[in-house]
Amino acid sequence: MEVNIRSEIIQISKLAPLPKIVHQIFKVTSDPTSSARDLSLLIIKDQSLTAKILKIINSAYYGFNRKIGNVNHAIVILGFDEIKSITMALCLMKYYPIEQSRLFNRELFWKHSIGTAHIARALSSLKMELNCEDAYVVGLLHDFGKVILDQFFPDIFRNALETAKERKQPLHHVLQESIGINHAEIGGLIAEHWQLPVPLVNAIRLHHSPEEAADDEYFVHLVQLANYFCHKNMIGASGNPKPDEPYEGSLKALGIENQDLDQVWDFLNIGAQKINLFL
Ligand SMILES: [Fe+2]
Ligand SMILES: [Fe+2]
Repeated sequence: MEVNIRSEIIQISKLAPLPKIVHQIFKVTSDPTSSARDLSLLIIKDQSLTAKILKIINSAYYGFNRKIGNVNHAIVILGFDEIKSITMALCLMKYYPIEQSRLFNRELFWKHSIGTAHIARALSSLKMELNCEDAYVVGLLHDFGKVILDQFFPDIFRNALETAKERKQPLHHVLQESIGINHAEIGGLIAEHWQLPVPLVNAIRLHHSPEEAADDEYFVHLVQLANYFCHKNMIGASGNPKPDEPYEGSLKALGIENQDLDQVWDFLNIGAQKINLFL
């Protein structure tokens, strides 16, 4: 039974599409010959996406004096990377929309994912080797396996959420025990299928088992810590009643002392206001 569910989940995970526009944005932004105009041409094909991006950029959070009236202008002012991050988060939310359920609230879930993405990006400044936009992507997608479970295996997922809540156990342990696979492994399979870079795939796969990662697999350690900060500061919710504590090895890999965690959090300066803009 367990073996069947596991292989069924693996098959279905491979079918979950990366929204076409996200794929195209990856292509444009990783091509050094692309211009702001190429990216803007891609975005303006989708009117509701364009409107949402302009709404975010013209919000009080960014505080520009003059109204930014088009995407091209927005890219020039905020840069490729910021627009790429905003677009990617919006597209994933649109493709895998917010649905309300008692145990797994997707609005809070996306808030948790965007929060972890912002924290991971801010934390990436601690290690020169880390690309900040990759950090954002990995934060955004670290729990994506839960969306697949919620979408395609709602009964199994609901049971696991209920059991985890009753027993006050980490959700990934309950999933592993009941169906032989957890959301981190599912997310890793999807990221692999989407052909994300290997360090990002591994970070998604190992975010609850950082002890399996080498010291220099920084993205794993980055997401482990970003996820902790996100839970600790109650930014959204991911359906996990017992979030992981910071892993000693991850802190060491990132050059952080346990007693400095509060200072690190203050240094990151994460505004919940910015995260709310996406919802
Ligand atoms: Fe997780
Ligand atoms: Fe998480």
